[in-house]
Amino acid sequence: MTNKRTLVIGGTGKTGRKVVERLSRLNRKVRVGSRNANPAFDWQESSTWTETLVGIDQVYITFQPDLAVPGALEAIEGLTREAKIAGVKKLVLLSGKGEREAELCEQVVINSGMDYTIIRASWFNQNFSESFFLDPIIAGHVALPQADVKVPYVDTDDIADVAVEALLDETHKGQIYELTGSRLLTFKEVIDEIARATGRTIDFTSITLGAYSKMLEEFGVPSDYRWLINYLFTEVLGDERNMVITHDIEKVLGRKPKKFSEYVEEVARSGVWNPEVEVGEET
Ligand SMILES: NC(=O)c1ccc[n+]([C@@H]2O[C@H](COP(=O)([O-])OP(=O)(O)OC[C@H]3O[C@@H](n4cnc5c(N)ncnc54)[C@H](OP(=O)(O)O)[C@@H]3O)[C@@H](O)[C@H]2O)c1
Repeated sequence: MTNKRTLVIGGTGKTGRKVVERLSRLNRKVRVGSRNANPAFDWQESSTWTETLVGIDQVYITFQPDLAVPGALEAIEGLTREAKIAGVKKLVLLSGKGEREAELCEQVVINSGMDYTIIRASWFNQNFSESFFLDPIIAGHVALPQADVKVPYVDTDDIADVAVEALLDETHKGQIYELTGSRLLTFKEVIDEIARATGRTIDFTSITLGAYSKMLEEFGVPSDYRWLINYLFTEVLGDERNMVITHDIEKVLGRKPKKFSEYVEEVARSGVWNPEVEVGEET
């Protein structure tokens, strides 16, 4: 068996760092793609892509910030072209479940002439501990729109396990996997579960998308990021087809997805959801 060299773009991110860890544990050759790696890789600077692709056999692609944003399609087209020229044989693309724009990017990978696997993931559990929902949870006040929508959150441990399988096993060639967890949860249900596990009081308020957008603006969130949040809350959460549990994790890994409660217990134990205690302050 040859030891293929894998480039993990976003190799320090939520799924990418876990893919790097798993491949390294298996003694596979791996290169991290990030603006802080050497050589550096920046989606905004196509001149950085060529050097990162030298000697690479396969690529796990996570795009930033999202495959739905303007310019993503052109970036995926450009990277795919360069990867082929560099002699890359296989692409595994992390995509978003229920995003029409992301599906256009998937088509570029599918038609690239290289082997491929597409991983369409639902919203990550880790959005509550490593991303935009973390700060309000720490503050104890969460206000979000689409309060009645039920989301089948998926854990990045499972996504990374599926990505590694797709990178290492030929049988996943040409497959599109849709990954969800095993429970459908509203935001309130998530916040209640986190509050119980941490022993904290965290209140949840249902607000309109307009009010949420205005709140983000007041907090100084840049307009392109607000556009993306608006897109995700309308296109992804607004589509009932995304409120469905799939079984592709079990199909690929031969086991059930990680339970949401397990994720919550792990993060609660780590202390990430607790407000920082000032030095000298009594607890
Ligand atoms: N979050 C979700 O719920 C979700 C659900 C489905 C699909 N997805 C998809 O997953 C992908 C990754 O999203 P994520 O939220 O999980 O992010 P993430 O992987 O946690 O993003 C951080 C990673 O991206 C790198 N990065 C940031 N800006 C970069 C740039 N300009 N050029 C190169 N690398 C850059 C960071 O490294 P440096 O900072 O060192 O550059 C880091 O490795 C997105 O395409 C998203 O659509 C996300």
